[in-house]
Amino acid sequence: MKTLIIYHSSYMGNTERVARAIADGLGADIITVDQADSIDIAGYDLIGLGSPINFGSHDKRLLEYTSSIDLSGLRIFIFSTRCSPILGSYHRTLKKIIKNQGGTVIAQFSCRGYDNTGPWTLIGGMNKGRPDERDIFKARLFGIKLKRKENNLSAIWSKPIKTVTDGITYRDLDTHIVAGKNIVYIDTTSCVTCGQCIKNCPMGIFKITTKPENINLSARPINIVIPQSEHNCILCHQCDDRCPANAIYIRETTSTALRVAFTEKRLRQVYLKS
Ligand SMILES: Cc1cc2nc3c(=O)[nH]c(=O)nc-3n(C[C@H](O)[C@H](O)[C@H](O)COP(=O)(O)O)c2cc1C
Repeated sequence: MKTLIIYHSSYMGNTERVARAIADGLGADIITVDQADSIDIAGYDLIGLGSPINFGSHDKRLLEYTSSIDLSGLRIFIFSTRCSPILGSYHRTLKKIIKNQGGTVIAQFSCRGYDNTGPWTLIGGMNKGRPDERDIFKARLFGIKLKRKENNLSAIWSKPIKTVTDGITYRDLDTHIVAGKNIVYIDTTSCVTCGQCIKNCPMGIFKITTKPENINLSARPINIVIPQSEHNCILCHQCDDRCPANAIYIRETTSTALRVAFTEKRLRQVYLKS
């Protein structure tokens, strides 16, 4: 997934810190609104737009830029920093513009930022030290969660099973073939067999194997990576977070999360052996 963040930040650099944390979590490209005219946003799957809240809505430069571009069919997330403890309707204007330009807002993030204007000068400013470490942590987590949610494979579990070969379940996703039954999925067509998942999974879930003969994986070399023991996944995300091809999806559900807690003893043994 190709993601671009376009932001404006001027007063204290508050929004820039938040924008960079979100970009870090998402693995997104990031530019200021002043640089945005030179970029073709059509090449991106997801766009992030953010700025401070100035006089009740996003910064006028971001609003003007957004009003000037065609967002047809694009998925957008928006973010801001603000002085007020509550967000209220501060995002409404930008949301309205995005809708008018044909885009869809799929998520939003906002946190407080230091403000030493107007009456706040009397007390040395509001929100001293914000965004702080916790705000930045939350912003990065917002980016990580969004990346997982927007993964192409996020609905793969609902597709019909193509075949089960050597205990591994395979499904079609358009022209791609995805291995994995319930929890850990690998797009074997996008996978570049770099071995990062095999190296980093603490539970030894991934294995490189000869591609099954009964599945048309002709575009792939002789070997593919499969999730051989996905029932041992503890949802640590050390695989998908490192996958350079974005070819892994971990499906987090309540039952998967609770299963880890209820089978901890067994999982510990697996961990010690892997
Ligand atoms: C001109 C101006 C107008 C502002 N208006 C608002 C406002 O209406 N509501 C609010 O909560 N904060 C307001 N603030 C506070 C900023 O939103 C806040 O300080 C923000 O974190 C600044 O981000 P920046 O450092 O990225 O520019 C305003 C600040 C400035 C300088």
